[in-house]
Amino acid sequence: MKKILPSILAADFSKLGDEIKEVESYGADIIHCDIMDGHFVPNISFGPKIISDINKITDLPLDVHLMIDNPQDFIVKFFEAGADMISVHYENNTHLDRVIQSIKDLGIKAGVVLNPATPVFMLEDILGLVDYVLLMSVNPGFGGQKFIDNILRKISILKNMIEKKGYDIEIEVDGGIDLTNIKLISEAGADLFVCGSSIFNSTDRKEVMSKMRSLI
Ligand code: DX5
Ligand code: ZN
Repeated sequence: MKKILPSILAADFSKLGDEIKEVESYGADIIHCDIMDGHFVPNISFGPKIISDINKITDLPLDVHLMIDNPQDFIVKFFEAGADMISVHYENNTHLDRVIQSIKDLGIKAGVVLNPATPVFMLEDILGLVDYVLLMSVNPGFGGQKFIDNILRKISILKNMIEKKGYDIEIEVDGGIDLTNIKLISEAGADLFVCGSSIFNSTDRKEVMSKMRSLI
């Protein structure tokens, strides 16, 4: 099933609980949480405390996207805080197989993330282990950037790779998704749509989310 994942990076943190309850009432499927350390990406967001607080006020699954160096040091902390899915980047994981396995050992979903410039064929030997692949459609670090069109081709190639192997793996796409491109992204083969500013910066979030739902 195709799912909409509001990214709280674009929410108003001074009333985060209300922001989450609002998108939940409009049919959000999963809450996407961006963790940034100011090293792997040039921005800082929030840590496990916020995840733990969010987990108390919503029953929606929490998707934790780690944009941090040494992610292996934080996996248990985010799991204990309430993460239902954790993804780590391909680009800064020397021991990716071990890190993915350590997420799966906790009984939650494990994902691998590719930056826009990392080719999907690099996933050849990890694909059999992951529950989902997150394709970045902007360079990670900030919300509100423009969708990189080349990602549509990457989604199709990855979809083919997954189908050929007969794997049950979801394709998540993150960055610059809005009402103008979500249909194309869906047609290319995406399952999970991360949307930050297109939802939270809209004056009619309900309308945007219902239109998104009809387009995917
Ligand atoms: C970017 C983050 C995204 C971000 C997307 O590094 O991974 O999840 O919140 O925001 P929008 O939808 O505004 O591009
Ligand atoms: Zn993200």
